Amino acid sequence: MMHAILLCGGSGTRLWPLSRKCYPKQFAKLMGDESLFQISAKRLTGPGFAPPIVVTGDPFRFIVTEQLAQVERAAQAILIEPEGRNTAPAILAAALYIARTDAQALMLVAPSDHVIPDCDAFAQTVQAAVPRAQAGDLVTFGITPTRAETGYGYLELAEGANASAQTPQPLARFVEKPDRAQAQGMLQTGNFLWNAGIFLFTAQAIIAAYQTHAPEMLDAVRASLDGATSDLGLTRLAPEAWGQADDISIDYAIMEKADNLAVMPFAAGWSDLGGWDAVWLESGPDAAGNVCSDNATAIDCAGTLLRSETDGLQLVGIGLDNIIAVAMGDAVLVADKSQAQRVKEAVDALKQRD
Ligand code: GDD
Ligand code: MG
Repeated sequence: MMHAILLCGGSGTRLWPLSRKCYPKQFAKLMGDESLFQISAKRLTGPGFAPPIVVTGDPFRFIVTEQLAQVERAAQAILIEPEGRNTAPAILAAALYIARTDAQALMLVAPSDHVIPDCDAFAQTVQAAVPRAQAGDLVTFGITPTRAETGYGYLELAEGANASAQTPQPLARFVEKPDRAQAQGMLQTGNFLWNAGIFLFTAQAIIAAYQTHAPEMLDAVRASLDGATSDLGLTRLAPEAWGQADDISIDYAIMEKADNLAVMPFAAGWSDLGGWDAVWLESGPDAAGNVCSDNATAIDCAGTLLRSETDGLQLVGIGLDNIIAVAMGDAVLVADKSQAQRVKEAVDALKQRD
C-alpha cells in the first residue's frame, strides 16, 4: 500500500494576483476547472493508494476540505502545522504518522503545485521505482533540464548511470537551487536532471535519514505529533514543539546530505507552473501563440496571455506582443512575458505600501 503525501502549505508569489497569501496557487483554478491541489489529489488516489495524507497550514484547512469534497476524495489525515516551517518538518510529520501503523509503508511525497499531463506515464514511473524504495533508498524523480533554471534542485547522475533508463539510477549528488553560473555549468555537462520535487521512500528510510542528518528536528516533530490534538477530522500538531523544528526544505535538510539517493528518470511532461510564462505555455497557446480565458479577447496579438478572473469583466488586448495580462476584481497585472518571473517584486512592492 502506498501513502500519498500532499504538501500544500506553500505560497506562490510569482502567480500574483491569482495566487494570494490566503489563497496560494495550488488552490487556484490555474488550468481548467480544477485546482492543482485537486488534480494532484485525483492523480494520487485509486488502486494501490491509501487515502492521501494532507499536510497544510491552519489558514488553508477550509479550502482543503472543501476542495477535496468537490472532487469526491477523502483524506486519511489532514495534518495542520501551527506555522509553516517549510517541507522538511512537514514531510517528517507525515512519515512519523505513517510509522505508527506501518514503518515499512511507502510514501509518495507530492507537491501540489505541478502539472503532469500524462497520469498513466507517471503511475508507471512510480511503479518502476517501488523496488528501489522498498530496499531503503530515497528515490527522487528526474526531469531532463531545458534551461539554466535556478529555482530547482539538480540531480547529478553517478558514473555509468543512464538518464533515459526506465529504472532508478544511482545519484552522485543533489544540488538545491544553484546560482546561475553553477546552473549553466550543470546544464552544459549534460549529466544532471532537475529534481521534480516528488519523492518515494519508506517511512522508516526517511525517518532514519532525519535521525542521521537532522536529529533535533526528529525530536521536535515527534514531540509535536505526540502532543497533537484531533478535532473535526484535523490533526493539529502541537505548537511549542513544532516551533523547535528548523524552517528548512527537505532538499537542503536531507537530500543534499543523504548518500542513499536514487533517481528515477521521468520523460513525460512536467511543469511546476513557476510563473505566468509557464502557465501560458502549459495552457496550449493557439496558432497565434495566445491564451485567452472566457471574457478575454485578443485582437492582433501574439504570444500573449489574457485572463479575466472575474465574471462579467471583459479584457481586450489589441496589438500586443508577448504580454501577460491578468485581471481580477481588485488587482490587475500587466507584464512583459519575458519578465514574468519579476511578479514577486509586485507583491513585495505592495507589501511596502501596506
Ligand atoms: N505543508 C507544507 N508546509 N507544504 C509546504 C510548505 C510548508 O511549510 N512549504 C512548501 N510547501 C509545499 C508547497 O505548497 C509545494 O507544493 C511543495 O511543498 C514544494 O514547495 P515549494 O516552495 O514550491 O518548493 P520549490 O518549488 O521552491 O522547490 C522544490 O520543488 C522544485 C520543483 O518544483 C524543491 O524540491 C526543488 O528541488 C525542486 O526542483
Ligand atoms: Mg514549487
